[in-house]
Amino acid sequence: TKRDMPSIDPLRIVAKEMKFLTGNIRKLLGSGHPSLDRAAKYYTQAEGKHIRPLIVLLMSRATSLCPKAPHRQQATIQASAAINTSISPLSILSDFNPSADVESEPVSSDIDILPSQRRLAEITELIHTASLLHDDVIDHSVSRRGAPSANLEFGNKMAVLAGDFLLGRASVALARLRHAEVIELLATVIANLVEGEFMQLKNTARDEANPRWSEDTLTYYLQKTYLKTASLISKSCRAAALLGGADAHTVDAAYSYGKNLGLAFQLVDDMLDYTRSEAELGKPAGADLELGLATAPLLFAWKTFPELGALVGRKFSQEGDVTRARELVMQSDGIAQTRALAEDYANKAIDAISGFPDSEAKDGLIEMAVKTLQRKK
Ligand code: FPP
Ligand code: MG
Ligand code: MG
Repeated sequence: TKRDMPSIDPLRIVAKEMKFLTGNIRKLLGSGHPSLDRAAKYYTQAEGKHIRPLIVLLMSRATSLCPKAPHRQQATIQASAAINTSISPLSILSDFNPSADVESEPVSSDIDILPSQRRLAEITELIHTASLLHDDVIDHSVSRRGAPSANLEFGNKMAVLAGDFLLGRASVALARLRHAEVIELLATVIANLVEGEFMQLKNTARDEANPRWSEDTLTYYLQKTYLKTASLISKSCRAAALLGGADAHTVDAAYSYGKNLGLAFQLVDDMLDYTRSEAELGKPAGADLELGLATAPLLFAWKTFPELGALVGRKFSQEGDVTRARELVMQSDGIAQTRALAEDYANKAIDAISGFPDSEAKDGLIEMAVKTLQRKK
């Protein structure tokens, strides 16, 4: 069910914080080695959608009005000093920008978002960008965000190393939050991303030559989708609430919002791969089948057309497989079913935060769920 919403721009609600996002991320990525510096910062040049930091900041603001946990972790309070200290020069190459500072603007007017929560927003984007650098190598992608991919621009080796560097710097920034539970959450995300990618390489749980459709097919896909996409969004929502000292009920609600939104987001992504062109997406369209991947639209089509099993089993590798699979998806209701499932999850995300006190930030989170379904790229 679509909710009646006044038109609201989620970006405007945390515009001040978002304005400094890319600059702060680039400061975290400074390296004394010019070509590493260039490769590491490459995906920060083209404006990404910054969906994850946006959600983290909205969640931070929305949960600031929620009940607090009885005993706030002492570490949270001590953290703010460490967040702003520059990363120590382990070697000449990693000695960068000693004045790196998240407080590049006054914060008195937005007291409800903590410096640690802003740093968390940056960390989520760093982890996401690291995964894209590696993903484009794995997927042999040639374009990203409307420009040549990093692997095309710098080669696979540099792209992989740049991704590793981002993870390293994200880990340092994370450690400086001095919040063990938050560190554990985001470290788990990094492992989850890899687990999701591994599950995707297999397509189905048993990886047979001629698999049959079963209810497990969808379960496996959703588990993979959680690990690959929803883990980062959900655990960073949870971390945002924890950093703000929210009570357990709020922390769980934040997590549930992120999990359901993340699942909706990836379902829409998998649908757009079938329905949009490369020019519209800023990255190759129809890429999933070419990569041998069976995503939601195809899995739903497979239930109607069992012959797709053989194609799934050989990862659409024979001549004509991709064309045939696409035809059958288009003849089926796979795309409509994918959209319907995405809508279910988006509604669950909205329901998860229904107990939050009314605020602009809460409306922004609701609008993010609505926009997830409407997005075209
Ligand atoms: C984009 O998916 C990729 C991901 C969401 C995660 C990929 C994860 C890895 C490569 C594991 C390594 C992880 C880290 C943290 C270094 P996609 O290929 O469906 O999306 P796209 O169309 O944007 O390329
Ligand atoms: Mg990819
Ligand atoms: Mg991929």
